[in-house]
Amino acid sequence: MTMKIKQKRVLGMILFAGCVGLALSTLAWSDGDEWYEHDREAYEHAEGGFYGNTSDVPIITNAAYKTECSACHFAYPAGLLPERSWLSVMNNLENHFGENAELDPETQAAITRYLQGHAADRIPNRFSRSILRSIRPDQVPLRITETSYFEHKHREVPARMVRGNDKVRSFSNCLSCHRMADKGVFDEDSVRIPGFGRWED
Ligand code: HEC
Ligand code: HEC
Repeated sequence: MTMKIKQKRVLGMILFAGCVGLALSTLAWSDGDEWYEHDREAYEHAEGGFYGNTSDVPIITNAAYKTECSACHFAYPAGLLPERSWLSVMNNLENHFGENAELDPETQAAITRYLQGHAADRIPNRFSRSILRSIRPDQVPLRITETSYFEHKHREVPARMVRGNDKVRSFSNCLSCHRMADKGVFDEDSVRIPGFGRWED
């Protein structure tokens, strides 16, 4: 009698563990997009193979970054580019997309450290992970907007809503459409395109 109960319990535990494992692995790879497959293995390997699945990108916590890097545009969350990209952006501030965004050496070093520590390859966020997987290990994108993930996600957004839209002008102005981008929220339900409203697929 006791033996039977014990066996049942063990069987139950094995089944339960199996279900949890299955659920976790589907969660981890449930994006359903195949365009990043090329370096998935390398990526999994390099990063130890486990990712949390938070959807909100961590907000900016660094005062210097917030002040200095939002003078001309929305301060992009660090988690939307890999460390190597931030290093390249920060090492070329005097020639920054046609502008001079140079900083004094201490401020530059402090912001660089912050961005490195919170880059896409350092945080467990599903958008960060997707962005990372969409670029080859030897690519160093200087823009979030030029990553395959970004292009893929925005491929159905017509130019008249962006370039042809005085209230947007450029895809780089995340906050004009992603109204909660400053809270780290980028999911498509929170999109409101100026002059066009909600996004309906
Ligand atoms: C003097 C103005 C100015 C300042 C200050 C500035 N930027 Fe920029 N930044 C620009 C312009 C202009 C663009 C290009 C925007 C466009 O194409 O619409 C840009 C684009 C970017 C992009 C690419 C966005 C995309 O398309 O994905 C990143 C990343 C970026 N800046 C990071 C920074 C960081 C980090 C700082 C602070 C150290 C900073 N910027 C400060 C003017 C500035
Ligand atoms: C012209 C408005 C517009 C701008 C500007 C814009 N986006 Fe988007 N974004 C959209 C729309 C619309 C979608 C949903 C597209 C779809 O599902 O077909 C989207 C989707 C996304 C997604 C995927 C959301 C999900 O739930 O899968 C991310 C992440 C994202 N955008 C990030 C950004 C970032 C970062 C920037 C700035 C560098 C930006 N977007 C600029 C309109 C915009």
